[in-house]
Amino acid sequence: MVALREWIAIAPAGAKLPSTRSLVIRYEASPVTVQKALRTLSGLGLIASRPGVGTFVRAVRTAKPSDFGWQTAALGSPRNRFSASPATMRPTPADAIALHGGYPDRDLLPERLIRAALARAGRSDAAFTRSPVAGLPELQSWFASELATAAPVGVTPPLAGDVIVLPGSQSGLSSIFRALVTDGRPLLIESPSYWGAILAAAQAGVRLVPIASGPTGPDPENVAQAFEETGARAFYVQPNYANPTGTQWSAGAARQILDVARTYGAFLIEDDWAHDFGITTDPTPVAAKDDNGNVVYIRSLTKSVSPALRIAAIIARGPARERIIADRAAASMYVSGVLQAAALDIITQPGWQTHLRGLRQQLRSRRDLLADSLTQHAPLAHITAIPPGGLNLWVRLPDTTDLPSFTRECESNNVLVAPGGEWFPAEPTGPFIRLNYSGPNPGAYPEAARIIGRTLEKANN
Ligand SMILES: Cc1ncc(COP(=O)(O)O)c(C=O)c1O
Repeated sequence: MVALREWIAIAPAGAKLPSTRSLVIRYEASPVTVQKALRTLSGLGLIASRPGVGTFVRAVRTAKPSDFGWQTAALGSPRNRFSASPATMRPTPADAIALHGGYPDRDLLPERLIRAALARAGRSDAAFTRSPVAGLPELQSWFASELATAAPVGVTPPLAGDVIVLPGSQSGLSSIFRALVTDGRPLLIESPSYWGAILAAAQAGVRLVPIASGPTGPDPENVAQAFEETGARAFYVQPNYANPTGTQWSAGAARQILDVARTYGAFLIEDDWAHDFGITTDPTPVAAKDDNGNVVYIRSLTKSVSPALRIAAIIARGPARERIIADRAAASMYVSGVLQAAALDIITQPGWQTHLRGLRQQLRSRRDLLADSLTQHAPLAHITAIPPGGLNLWVRLPDTTDLPSFTRECESNNVLVAPGGEWFPAEPTGPFIRLNYSGPNPGAYPEAARIIGRTLEKANN
């Protein structure tokens, strides 16, 4: 038995043991002794027998602590130390009031349309075929025509062939930064801005140049000066219902910033993530006014259709599109045709427009309920502006607030808020929180506001 155990210890997992007869001869033991030893070793989980085939060495699972220390030297220092799980992506405990998230609650999704479309897509040819790299032609056409409807007279609207379909816009941002800005080069970015863009830029090795953004967007003169000083050739922007502030650029700012980009031969990377979330205004993409290839436009359906149907698109013209599509092909080859077919089905149903109209009303009442609750119960929390669209309130807390302990205290009272630091490409300009009004259970907003109010008073006494 000892000898057999030693043999097993050095044999590779899956090795076949010699037959019982050979073991009897090799170890000069009786067949009964050999059988007993095999039973014991089997009981210890070291071997397993397959009747009619033989007995084999099992992969041994030990409880020894893992030692991955060698990877420290192999990997070296990370290029950046951003967390892979930002506050907005944290899971929500069952009884918490979740104001920290980024994706709308199921109540706000077109559930009936989604179920029917997925069933149809499952029965269609799309379930068995490879999509073209740039996406299903009908879906490309839909994205192009959506942008074309906003194009003024005299501007050549985008074509289906300008569209690249993506599995969500996040990976599109990465592609654009890699393909158009490239490693080590500067990229202008509004401050505050979407944490995911900051993260994607950092991963792509892009150097961020923050531009302060006000209630009607960034000051065009500041933008011109930053292009001039840094030599940047791209500016990541959210002209409609920016995440996190909800700001919508004025028409004047949009026109002037597009002019500035043209003057400096630069790209505007326009993230139209909240196109379907207008509340008191309609979104007006800057890209609709451009036929010169300056604006690289990105629009996502993952928040308005379903977070489970990750479909988005880039619209870009000229060599920039070729660069982006080459990056997409390398990164993910093509997007699931089933998801594309289902998304296309949903957004071309008459029920989609009805859904969007209902969504507008729901967002308005959720936004107002949360804002009113804060005004009433948390007077120290200053809502920077009531956003004309989007999903979030951007709230400034008193300067003396210690943000980490404030968010922890809220959390221990079951209210989850997103600390604002993640939205700043450089140092935060104050203690901010982002409160999302599209999460579950809006009936709990007054209670959440009371807890935020109490916690702020305690923190600033
Ligand atoms: C401004 C902005 N852009 C892009 C994204 C990424 O969206 P998705 O990858 O789900 O399309 C988000 C998600 O929160 C966002 O807020």
